[in-house]
Amino acid sequence: MKITTILGSLNKNGSCAHALNIVHDELQKSDNIELVIIDPNDYTLPFPGQSIPNSDENKLQHLLSDVAGIIISTPEYHGSFSSIVKLIIENLGFPSMLAGKPVSLLGVAEGSIGAIKSLEQLRSVCSHVGSIVLPGPVSIPNVHSAFDKDGNCLDGKVEQRLRTLANEMIKYAEKHIVPEHALEEQVRENL
Ligand SMILES: Cc1cc2nc3c(=O)[nH]c(=O)nc-3n(C[C@H](O)[C@H](O)[C@H](O)COP(=O)(O)O)c2cc1C
Repeated sequence: MKITTILGSLNKNGSCAHALNIVHDELQKSDNIELVIIDPNDYTLPFPGQSIPNSDENKLQHLLSDVAGIIISTPEYHGSFSSIVKLIIENLGFPSMLAGKPVSLLGVAEGSIGAIKSLEQLRSVCSHVGSIVLPGPVSIPNVHSAFDKDGNCLDGKVEQRLRTLANEMIKYAEKHIVPEHALEEQVRENL
C-alpha cells in the first residue's frame, strides 16, 4: 500500500521537514507501506496558464494515481498554507488526483497559536477538490523550540501526535477501498 507525503516547504532542513521526518519514521515501521515522498524541490511546476518546457505535472499526477493516502505538510506563511502547496495542488489535475483519496494535514508555525489558519484553509481546498480530509490534523506551535537543529523532536507530546497522524492514516487507508470513479464524478458535479 502506497502512502505519499508532500513536503510543503522548499526548505529541506526546515521545521516542516523535521516534523514530516517523524511521520516518515513512523510510516516506515509498517511492512505494509511503500512510502512515496514528494519534495517540491524535485519538481518543476507551472502556475495555471503558464507553460514551462519539461515541467513535471504529469510525473506528479502519475505518482499520486495509485496511492492509498496522502499526508500534506505545510508551514504557516502569512496566515495561510504555503504557496508551494497550492502550486502542487494546482498541478494535480482537474479533476484532482486528490479526489476520493484520504488526506491528512500537518502544519507548523513559529507563533503560539500554531498553524490553525493554514490548516483550516488547506482543509477547505482539499475538500473542495474531493479529497477525504481525515480528522485530527496536527498543528505544531512555537515550532522553532520543538526541534533541535538536527531535527530531533524536543517535545514528546508533539512527537506522539506526529506518530499518531501516521498511524491513523495507515488505519484509514487499510480499511477503505475508494471506488475510483464515484468521487471523480462527484467532484465534477461540484465544480
Ligand atoms: C514568509 C514567512 C511567513 C511566515 N508567516 C508566519 C505566520 O503567519 N505565522 C506563524 O506562526 N509563523 C510564520 N512564519 C514562520 C514559519 O511558519 C516558521 O519559520 C516555519 O518553521 C517555517 O517552516 P520551514 O522552514 O520548514 O519552511 C513565517 C515564515 C516565513 C518565512
